Amino acid sequence: MKVTFLNKQKDRKTITCNDGEKLLHAGLRQGIPLPYECGTGQCGTCIARAKPGTVQPNNSDLPGSKNLNLNKGEFLLCQCSVYEDCDILVDSKKLSHNHQYSLPKHQDGHLHNFNIIAPDVYVADLELPNLINFQAGQFFLFKAPGIEGYRAYSMTSYNQNTNQLNFVIKKVNQGKFTSILFDHDTKSLDLETFGPLGKATFDPEEKKDLLFITGGSGIAGIMSILDHADKINYFTSNTATIFFGARTINDFFFIDKLTDIKKKYSNNVKLFFATSEENKKSLPQQISDHEVHRGYVHEVFSNKIGADCSEHIVFLGGPSVMVNSALPKILELGIPAKNIRFDRFG
Ligand code: FES
Repeated sequence: MKVTFLNKQKDRKTITCNDGEKLLHAGLRQGIPLPYECGTGQCGTCIARAKPGTVQPNNSDLPGSKNLNLNKGEFLLCQCSVYEDCDILVDSKKLSHNHQYSLPKHQDGHLHNFNIIAPDVYVADLELPNLINFQAGQFFLFKAPGIEGYRAYSMTSYNQNTNQLNFVIKKVNQGKFTSILFDHDTKSLDLETFGPLGKATFDPEEKKDLLFITGGSGIAGIMSILDHADKINYFTSNTATIFFGARTINDFFFIDKLTDIKKKYSNNVKLFFATSEENKKSLPQQISDHEVHRGYVHEVFSNKIGADCSEHIVFLGGPSVMVNSALPKILELGIPAKNIRFDRFG
């Protein structure tokens, strides 16, 4: 099918959309800088408009659908494919090809090596048929056979020209995808993938100090950024301040990797752990030499961060409630919006 994307600036770009392919995927893989964050129907960023009846309707139960005006032909680009050739009005200032990042593409993938690292949290490796490049902080979409929709997972390490990627996967209560992986003693799974995606990325050329605020499995993409930074010794000349929150002490993971980075760059890396549900009396004073603080991670961040952070780049990784709670303090510190980076997964 031929799909023409239009914007309010009256730019036009026509691309090919495969039968059943999500419009977001068709546009991004052909270099159209379409608006998106999660790619999974959670955030509502990818709202677009088409003549009613030309686009397959999407699942109205998804959180990203709640503000759609169906009478005006609004839908989510990440959830919909087209029935016929059509025009799509999108909220993109530019439709010109964007080659800042490697373009995402569809590939089959082989997910394997599942290992539990904390309650309900697993690491897994993905093997792809073709080599890819990605930016530290990006993510992939997975679609398992027989299950509706894609799930988003961030890479946890950083390599170029690779077909081996590492992920954190949190088991979701009654989640169909993670039930296949973890309730049936599955050793591996062949699935569809689309990626790399995501704009909350690390650019070493910016040469800025970094601030990380993360909760639970949201640390996955931040581990990729730390891995990239470590591989180029970025923290010999720039600082990192890392706030990592979890419900209890037992819910933390990647402690060894974080500790190694802290030890290697002891003058420039600060690490704070925050537990939201740990009983204060039973709270250990330290995890592997690091002080542990009682409270939500955004609260510990607000209490412990110094005043002089206006030039930092901030990476947020975690649920929307954590991101929304941390943003007022980040803005109060004078950090400009262009230096605040996150992808709203849900
Ligand atoms: S709802 Fe489509 S990108 Fe988030």
